[in-house]
Amino acid sequence: MAARFENKVVIVTGGTSGIGLATAKAFAGEGASVFITGRRQEALDAAVKAVGGRVTGVRGDMGKLADIDRLYDAVQQKHGHIDVVFANAGGGEFAALGSITEEHYQSTFDSNVKGVLFTVQKALPLMRDGGSIVLTSSTTSISGTPAFSVYSATKAAIRSFARNWILDLKDRHIRVNAISPGVTDTAGLNELFGGGAQAEGTKDYLAGLIPAGRVGQPEEIAKAVLFLASDDASFINGVELFVDGGQVQI
Ligand SMILES: NC(=O)c1ccc[n+]([C@@H]2O[C@H](COP(=O)([O-])OP(=O)(O)OC[C@H]3O[C@@H](n4cnc5c(N)ncnc54)[C@H](OP(=O)(O)O)[C@@H]3O)[C@@H](O)[C@H]2O)c1
Repeated sequence: MAARFENKVVIVTGGTSGIGLATAKAFAGEGASVFITGRRQEALDAAVKAVGGRVTGVRGDMGKLADIDRLYDAVQQKHGHIDVVFANAGGGEFAALGSITEEHYQSTFDSNVKGVLFTVQKALPLMRDGGSIVLTSSTTSISGTPAFSVYSATKAAIRSFARNWILDLKDRHIRVNAISPGVTDTAGLNELFGGGAQAEGTKDYLAGLIPAGRVGQPEEIAKAVLFLASDDASFINGVELFVDGGQVQI
């Protein structure tokens, strides 16, 4: 395949594991200079090694504005511009209505909503006109899951950001799209499902509900992110692309 991202500067937040790591590898494999973030230094160091190519790791919590500033200071010093932002950092935990705490609400919205908002806003001064932004939403943006309302609300917010930001960025010809993975086999998902045999059992059960008959792999989400970020998607703007084996289409 042609290297669609040769000489491009790409930001992947939450690039140390799962979907972000697979996507960072795919961008680097197509010639991009990639910046990845994550909060854990050890995971960041391992991911930098795993991605290879022209990759830079910047440790930071995307829910903290000072950490986002440090990321873009590093980009400014090294390249002075950005072509693609994949605002992907995030995660969630189960909490049913009745047991939701302020801390649960705050930490989920900080990582998933505040983090995405300021990752994008603070990238704008460095972004080239005609660039591309991809936001990680989720099938939960349009479907319900027991004890997962706060997380799901954050992902609905992300979908809404994409719809609105295409208007704010219209004059700069910057496209914004949301990617909505279904059940995808990552460290984050396995932890959410209790790890080990319990997680395997839950994934097997969910696979039976998915028309494709299986859960997704992070590399499958990465391919769709690269498509949306590339010129192959030059007339695709403001959409939510479900990559879920058909789960929320039935
Ligand atoms: N896996 C699924 O089934 C699925 C489905 C739909 C949507 N998603 C979404 O896809 C994205 C990636 O999830 P994943 O499954 O790949 O999870 P993962 O394996 O846990 O990876 C999450 C990544 O984000 C980083 N991260 C989390 N919060 C962060 C923060 N506040 N600041 C900076 N980095 C942060 C993590 O590193 P640190 O922990 O070191 O910070 C890690 O690199 C998330 O937005 C998730 O909601 C996942």
